[in-house]
Amino acid sequence: MNKKIIAANFKMNKTHKEIRDYLDIFLKKLDKEDFKNKNLNLLDTEIVFAPPYTSLLEAYNKIRLNYYDDLVRLASQNIYYEKSGAYTGEISIEMIKSCGCSYAIIGHSERRRIFNETDDLIAKKISSIFDDGKIIPILCVGENLNVRKEQKEYDFVSNQLNTALNSLKNKKIPSLIVAYEPIWAIGAGAPIGPEDGEKMHAFIYKYLNDNFIIEELRVIYGGSVTQSNIKMLITNKHIDGVLVGGASLDPSSFYNIYKFSLQY
Ligand code: PGA
Repeated sequence: MNKKIIAANFKMNKTHKEIRDYLDIFLKKLDKEDFKNKNLNLLDTEIVFAPPYTSLLEAYNKIRLNYYDDLVRLASQNIYYEKSGAYTGEISIEMIKSCGCSYAIIGHSERRRIFNETDDLIAKKISSIFDDGKIIPILCVGENLNVRKEQKEYDFVSNQLNTALNSLKNKKIPSLIVAYEPIWAIGAGAPIGPEDGEKMHAFIYKYLNDNFIIEELRVIYGGSVTQSNIKMLITNKHIDGVLVGGASLDPSSFYNIYKFSLQY
C-alpha cells in the first residue's frame, strides 16, 4: 500500500521563528504512544511541511531533534533546474537536499500564474529532479474555471502531465506524486465535490499508467482542504492524500486534518 501524504504548503507565510513555534505545538501533539493505543498505524501516512526556504533548516533540525524524521518530512516550494551559477533568487536541488528535503513542489498554479512558469520550464525542473534521483517531485496540475466550464479539464490535465513528464517517456520513474489542484478551488472556501475529485484522480492514475512507467505513484488533492472536509476527500480510493494551504497555517487545524485522515 502506498503511504498517504498529508502536506502543508505554507507559501510565503511565517518567519523562521514562527515556524519553530508552530512545530513546537504540532510535534507535541504527535504522541506516538497515544496513536499506538488507539490502533492507528502512524507510519501509513507521511506528514510533509513545505515552509519558505528560510525556515527549511530550522524545521529539519527540529524534526530530527524530536525523532520524528520517519514520520515528518520536508518539501521545498520550488527548485531551479540548473546545478549552480548566476541565477539570482533561485535555489538548487543540492541546496534543498542539504536542508533535509525529501520532496519538491513543482509547477504550483501560483508559480505558473504569477511567475509565468511555463510547461516547458516545469518539464526541465522535473527532468533535473529525476536526473539527480534523490528528491521526489510533487507535480501540481489543475484547470482554471474557464477550462472546467468548457468541460475540457481532462484534456487540459493530461496535457500538463504529458508535457511535464515528456523527458521520461520509456524511462522508469521510481516515485512520483501528482497534486491535482483545480485552480478554481484554491483558497475558494470549498473544495471539489468528492465524486468529481475521485473521477479526476482515477483518470490521472489511468493516464499515467497507460503512458509512463511509474513504480510508485500517488495522486493527492489540493484546494480548500480543511478539517471539516478531509474525511469526504480521503475516503476516496484514488485520493492518496492532500496538499493544504490556508488550513495548514494553524498547527491545531493541520494536526486535525492529519488525525482525521488516519482513520480511513
Ligand atoms: P488552499 O491552497 O488549501 O489554501 O486552497 C492549496 C494550495 O494552493 O496548495
